[in-house]
Amino acid sequence: MSLKLVLVVFLLVKVVTSEDTSFIYKGFKSTQLYLDGISELTQNGLLRLTNDTKQQKAHAFHPNPVVFKTTSNGSVSSFSTTLVFAIRPEYPTLSGHGIVFVVAPTKGLPNSLPSQYLGLFTDTNNGNITNHVFGVELDTIQSKEFDDINDNHVGIDINSLKSDNSTTAGYYTSGGEFKNLTLFSGYPMQVWVEYDGVKKQIDVTLGPTNMDKPEVPLLSLTKDLSPILNDTMYVGFTSATGSVHTSHYVLGWSFKINGQAQQLVISELPKLPKFGEKKESKFLTIGLPLISLSSVFVIILSVAYFIKRKKKFAELLEDWEHEYGPHRFKYKDLYFATKGFKEKELLGTGGFGRVYKGVMPVSKIEVAVKRVSHESRQGMREFVAEIVSIGRLRHRNLVPLLGYCRRKGELLLVYDYMSNGSLDKYLYNQPRVTLNWNQRFVIIKGVASGLFYLHEEWEQVVVHRDIKASNVLLDAELNGRLGDFGLARLYDHGTDPQTTHVVGTLGYLAPEHARTGKATTSSDVFAFGAFLLEVVCGRRPIEHIGESESVILVDWVYDCWKTGEILMAKDPNLGLDYKSEEVELVLKLGLLCSHSEPSVRPSMRQVVQYLEMDVPLPDLSLLGLSSAGLTFGHHEDFGNFPMSYPFSMEKPFSHTTQSSTSVTESLLSGGR
Ligand SMILES: *[C@@H]1O[C@H](CO)[C@@H](O)[C@H](O)[C@H]1NC(C)=O
Ligand SMILES: *[C@@H]1O[C@H](CO)[C@@H](O)[C@H](O)[C@H]1NC(C)=O
Ligand SMILES: *[C@@H]1O[C@H](CO)[C@@H](O)[C@H](O)[C@H]1NC(C)=O
Ligand SMILES: *[C@@H]1O[C@H](CO)[C@@H](O)[C@H](O)[C@H]1NC(C)=O
Ligand SMILES: *[C@@H]1O[C@H](CO)[C@@H](O)[C@H](O)[C@H]1NC(C)=O
Ligand SMILES: *[C@@H]1O[C@H](CO)[C@@H](O)[C@H](O)[C@H]1NC(C)=O
Repeated sequence: MSLKLVLVVFLLVKVVTSEDTSFIYKGFKSTQLYLDGISELTQNGLLRLTNDTKQQKAHAFHPNPVVFKTTSNGSVSSFSTTLVFAIRPEYPTLSGHGIVFVVAPTKGLPNSLPSQYLGLFTDTNNGNITNHVFGVELDTIQSKEFDDINDNHVGIDINSLKSDNSTTAGYYTSGGEFKNLTLFSGYPMQVWVEYDGVKKQIDVTLGPTNMDKPEVPLLSLTKDLSPILNDTMYVGFTSATGSVHTSHYVLGWSFKINGQAQQLVISELPKLPKFGEKKESKFLTIGLPLISLSSVFVIILSVAYFIKRKKKFAELLEDWEHEYGPHRFKYKDLYFATKGFKEKELLGTGGFGRVYKGVMPVSKIEVAVKRVSHESRQGMREFVAEIVSIGRLRHRNLVPLLGYCRRKGELLLVYDYMSNGSLDKYLYNQPRVTLNWNQRFVIIKGVASGLFYLHEEWEQVVVHRDIKASNVLLDAELNGRLGDFGLARLYDHGTDPQTTHVVGTLGYLAPEHARTGKATTSSDVFAFGAFLLEVVCGRRPIEHIGESESVILVDWVYDCWKTGEILMAKDPNLGLDYKSEEVELVLKLGLLCSHSEPSVRPSMRQVVQYLEMDVPLPDLSLLGLSSAGLTFGHHEDFGNFPMSYPFSMEKPFSHTTQSSTSVTESLLSGGR
């Protein structure tokens, strides 16, 4: 009883003093935390900074100011803080932005933006010395503009989102070994931030909650904070969401000036919501207590059931895959999501396998699951590493890859579900809905920007290898999103270079790609050119008319251009509601990208500039496009090149309607 009284008195005293030099939060239930943005306290006392998908920011601050300069000479005192946090994204592979522990002149940072700005700064005040902000970011997205090193890092930020020092999230064991930690694994982790006012040194340490604080800090910076911090400051957290549902939680927090922050005891902190795992089947517990003939029978049956079930849901999981833990889906979940890969859930059959619609059991997220049959395990490790890395790509014009699962002879890829299906369905074969010019132009620009991102904006160059209308999916707002990137790779790995299987689709395949079997960014540009013509003309790159005749789209558009009537080539379904200069631009750009000489094709950066009309398109007649269709199909000696079209080959045909030699024609005659 008396202890309680003392506590109450202590609390009262705490409220009376308006400046704190130390505090501890063992959960945040009925605390006076300052909250703004979308931050809130949950019923059991967790601080949930974010949970929403909209581009929102969140702030939470200790309500009272903290005096950082306790001596008269104006130097910042030592301080120490520790917190337990967890980042729970909706998808196992994508996360919203991060959490920042922050020391700021005001409660809340009114001059701040969500997403990559983390609720900390804006594009105008970022980096300004008048900010007086010190922060430690736990960042789960790589923002190139702030020189982020990767999408899972800890950084020390002084007045700027460009960290003064940063490193991959993890910790050093007492043996000195570095262990990675995935910030958005969803599991709680602890972070310690310490400033030594004498040595002027900041140390940041991260660790899992089931062990003591690692001895060696993860990250350090020697920096005198005296010019950065004001005499009194506020301490707290900022966080932000982008386009993925993510909950950023803080479970507990302690802070102290001139001393060690009080230890947090995990068992005293509020519990995170349970992960959405289903409980185990109760089958084995049934019947066991009753040892009778019938129960033995039941047991035998259930064991048989289990063995069958186990086989049914068996997966391949090798040691090297453990690091991809968060990207792995359970086969069982995918099985139930797609109602057992029911025919009714089939969305389509692509070059690489069948695609099913699914709804994930717990989260109810709509997904598309692609089953790729693959017997060879050769190259699988590299390939999975690649898809996992591709899964980290984020761009509004790419279909997000959420993860994968592996079984014997089969790979399953899980994508975000795109409600409007693939673009080709809107272009030919008597589409039920035709797209107007504006919609098509938006899709074209979107795909260009997605491909530009793959080629130039991401940390490594990603060659798509199979651009075509059927690989462009339309989301709910009819934005074009590229899917299936990198898949063609699977069939390249480990094959004999002498018999390279060229994967790609005829009509989109650049001549040098067919010849050498090597896909490059310029062979992607070639395919993009075919795609442009496809979208404007509403026709396939190669169309069969009758038994033995075909129209090669690029040749036909070329002929229209040559006679000065390039607009003749456009889809008649467009009607009259179009901007002729845009249609003309896209058709000409399609021709330019289809040039047989890779060096003449523009880069995707240039393509984007042309489409935005920032830069005028070069004059085609100056590029040697004058001599009939030949320009697009240099006579090449295709006599001996090794190739085959194992997956996407269109029906072979013997001659075209054109008398001129075209690329596709020479390819075919060479290929046979
Ligand atoms: C976020 O939290 C609020 C309040 O608990 C809730 O109403 C809302 O549905 C949540 N949003 C998501 C996306 O979970
Ligand atoms: C400021 O005063 C404190 C305590 O008196 C001392 O430890 C510290 O070294 C002084 N700093 C400077 C820059 O003189
Ligand atoms: C922080 O200190 C700077 C420089 O001493 C001053 O200009 C600024 O107004 C102070 N900020 C606040 C919120 O007191
Ligand atoms: C920094 O911010 C101050 C105050 O908002 C402003 O006057 C100044 O121009 C900014 N400096 C830079 C380099 O942007
Ligand atoms: C830790 O993560 C980094 C960055 O993702 C990676 O380069 C490194 O190989 C990983 N290390 C281990 C031991 O997994
Ligand atoms: C960044 O932190 C690492 C790890 O503590 C340290 O080795 C390195 O010297 C620091 N870099 C700077 C610029 O302080």
